[in-house]
Amino acid sequence: MAILVTGGAGYIGTHTCVELLLAGYEVVVLDNFCNSHPTALDRVEQITARSLSVVRGDVRDQAILEATMHHFAIDAVIHFAGLKAVGESVEKPLDYYENNVVGTHRLLQAMQKCGVETLVFSSSATVYGEPKQLPLTEDHPLSATNPYGRSKLMVEEMLRDLWQANTHWRIAILRYFNPVGAHPLGLIGEDPRGVPNNLMPYVAQVAVGKHAYLNIWGNDYPTPDGTGVRDYIHVVDLAKGHLKALAHLNAPQCTAINLGTGVGHSVQEVRKAFERASGQTVPYKVSTRRQGDVATCYADAQLATTLLGWKAEHDLVTMCTDHWRWQSLNPNGFSNG
Ligand code: NAD
Ligand code: WQD
Repeated sequence: MAILVTGGAGYIGTHTCVELLLAGYEVVVLDNFCNSHPTALDRVEQITARSLSVVRGDVRDQAILEATMHHFAIDAVIHFAGLKAVGESVEKPLDYYENNVVGTHRLLQAMQKCGVETLVFSSSATVYGEPKQLPLTEDHPLSATNPYGRSKLMVEEMLRDLWQANTHWRIAILRYFNPVGAHPLGLIGEDPRGVPNNLMPYVAQVAVGKHAYLNIWGNDYPTPDGTGVRDYIHVVDLAKGHLKALAHLNAPQCTAINLGTGVGHSVQEVRKAFERASGQTVPYKVSTRRQGDVATCYADAQLATTLLGWKAEHDLVTMCTDHWRWQSLNPNGFSNG
């Protein structure tokens, strides 16, 4: 089977390409490299001792999508391409609607035209908005608190409408919780541009000496130690979830599935686990709460097990150990080539 992976040069995309290649799929990556580096794809080939095809292009470009699908006889699409920084989405909402919503619309039109009707879409737990009950099940009410989240929600709704009108399509909407960690060889990993927004990459940069301390955004939440609790999931587990979803798309459907561990960890737990994994100290200061943050968020991950036969395997220690290996071996990410 030939899989088109949009945004395949990015953090989750590269890890998914590794698993696809190891499982014997033909892989075609379409990426405009706006938040990634072509070197990452060389590393994917190095890890797997297999080659993939790369198209430098934009998901908003329907012509290039159609040409790619024809040329490589694509059977299914995994769609990662998009922008993902919550804060930036508040500043530049139109960029987010254009890349994430218009981009997906063009992709769907191209797929329809080329008769490719199997899609795995990268959604996010952000579509649950403020949790009304925990753990978060897939039938929890959906809402958005920022333009990024709204773009994901709009795409989900677009996919459900598309499926209502074309019930032969095969669509999996995967709602990721907090992906962290890296492939165990330390050759690929998250390479944030500028100062990282997310906890684990920031902690990793403190440990490697790029920042003096971690800002803990609030220690007065109603959680065991007062800091925010999240469901961190190892990116390799997440990548494997995509292969399970592809396998499950052997019948028409439009199904939303959580990919998380079902276990929540606080900011302090992550910080301490990272200290143990890295052997470095991660000093911190407590700041005021970050606007828009919730106290606690974790998945009910049962549906993924029931439907896909998938379960996250790696714990927080492995997430930190693998993240640290990547960070310490590549302190400047892919920039050193
Ligand atoms: P990433 O930025 O590392 O990867 C995204 C890739 O898409 C990059 O290689 C980028 O260059 C490419 N891209 C962006 N816009 C494009 C466009 N218009 N045309 C072609 N390529 C384009 O991000 P990631 O963490 O790997 O996330 C992948 C997907 O998963 C995104 O859709 C993101 O919203 C979603 N997601 C991520 C997280 C997370 O915390 N990392 C959580 C939930 C959902
Ligand atoms: C985790 C915890 C922070 C940084 C975001 C997006 C979400 C999804 C995943 C894409 C919180 C605390 C963080 C720091 C801190 N992305 N923190 N100091 O906010 O759960 O989710 O990424 O879909 O949409 O919103 O993840 O890693 O930013 O924060 O104290 O420097 O760490 O307050 O409690 P979040 P995060």
